[in-house]
Amino acid sequence: MKALITRIVKGMMTVIVMGSAALVAAADAYSAPTDDAQRNSNEPLMLRGIMQNLSTDMQQITGAMAMEDWQQVAQAATRVADHPQPTMSERLRIMAFLGTDAAIFKGYDQRVHTAAMKLAEAARREEGGAAIKAFAEVQSNCLGCHQTFRQPFQAHFEVNYEQAY
Ligand code: HEC
Repeated sequence: MKALITRIVKGMMTVIVMGSAALVAAADAYSAPTDDAQRNSNEPLMLRGIMQNLSTDMQQITGAMAMEDWQQVAQAATRVADHPQPTMSERLRIMAFLGTDAAIFKGYDQRVHTAAMKLAEAARREEGGAAIKAFAEVQSNCLGCHQTFRQPFQAHFEVNYEQAY
């Protein structure tokens, strides 16, 4: 009798487990890519993590400049200049969203790159004044991009995070 009950309970568990697996699969299929590649992500943009690292590097640069640790300034500035990009598929989503504004977005990124290279060079030459000037140029392009794009990105991509659930 006990063995029978155990078998029945086990059988029921199997049905429940398989049932939930089927539900999960169905939910996946429901939110699977359709015709709009921008509307199927339920993950935050990789861009955010990249941005957080840029921020850490910029803070390290100000700290290192105060110590006149030019080697550290040069290293962190090089990381800012050569920051990683999101994956190809995320870049495509971003570019699809930006449309004709993509050139403006890329322009800010390019100027951050150029100014950060300048900063690294000034640091290697141990030219504090030139380093500070280049640092300001980096930061004004961070700000420029944020003032133009942060709000639209959050409005667009966060709506999509919610739609994915
Ligand atoms: C080409 C455009 C662009 C440039 C250049 C840029 N950012 Fe951003 N950044 C963004 C966008 C868009 C967001 C908003 C992303 C979001 O909220 O999903 C953002 C968000 C951030 C955030 C907030 C991240 C979070 O967790 O909410 C930080 C910090 C940041 N950027 C730092 C920087 C720093 C430092 C620089 C310059 C070295 C920089 N960014 C340059 C586009 C840019």
